Amino acid sequence: MKKIIVYWTGTGNTEEIANKIAGDLGCDAFKVNEVTVDATLENDLIILGCPAMGAEVLEEEEFQPFYDELKAKIGNQKVALFGSYGWGDGEWMRNWEAEVGTNLVTKGLIVNGGASEIDDLAYGEFISALK
Ligand SMILES: Cc1cc2nc3c(=O)[nH]c(=O)nc-3n(C[C@H](O)[C@H](O)[C@H](O)COP(=O)(O)O)c2cc1C
Repeated sequence: MKKIIVYWTGTGNTEEIANKIAGDLGCDAFKVNEVTVDATLENDLIILGCPAMGAEVLEEEEFQPFYDELKAKIGNQKVALFGSYGWGDGEWMRNWEAEVGTNLVTKGLIVNGGASEIDDLAYGEFISALK
């Protein structure tokens, strides 16, 4: 199964998580401004990462437009989600999961901080679902 990670990061937390997932799955991770939607859609599993921004929303300048285009063009590719958050309770991820709908393969991985804050159990389940 061809896999790709596409993410946005402001302060590097989501990037750390992206790189860890990439290492464990053996796939490439690209910042959202390094890859096109069409190239992303050539993969069977699309793993998207974006932190909670605004008020419990995706980053609006780069990531949201990319996601909107992807969503409009996606077929039966599978999607997985991850991201870092700060003071919230993960609402942005619950909304994002619902938005992805039936393409979603597993519960989104949320991390309160960077890679060192990852919950091992949740991470293990996330990775297993993507192998
Ligand atoms: C402009 C801005 C808005 C944010 N909004 C939220 C939010 O609504 N909920 C939340 O839990 N964290 C929020 N955060 C915290 C970030 O999600 C958190 O710092 C995260 O680790 C950033 O990930 P990054 O290092 O990949 O950019 C916000 C941070 C910024 C800078």
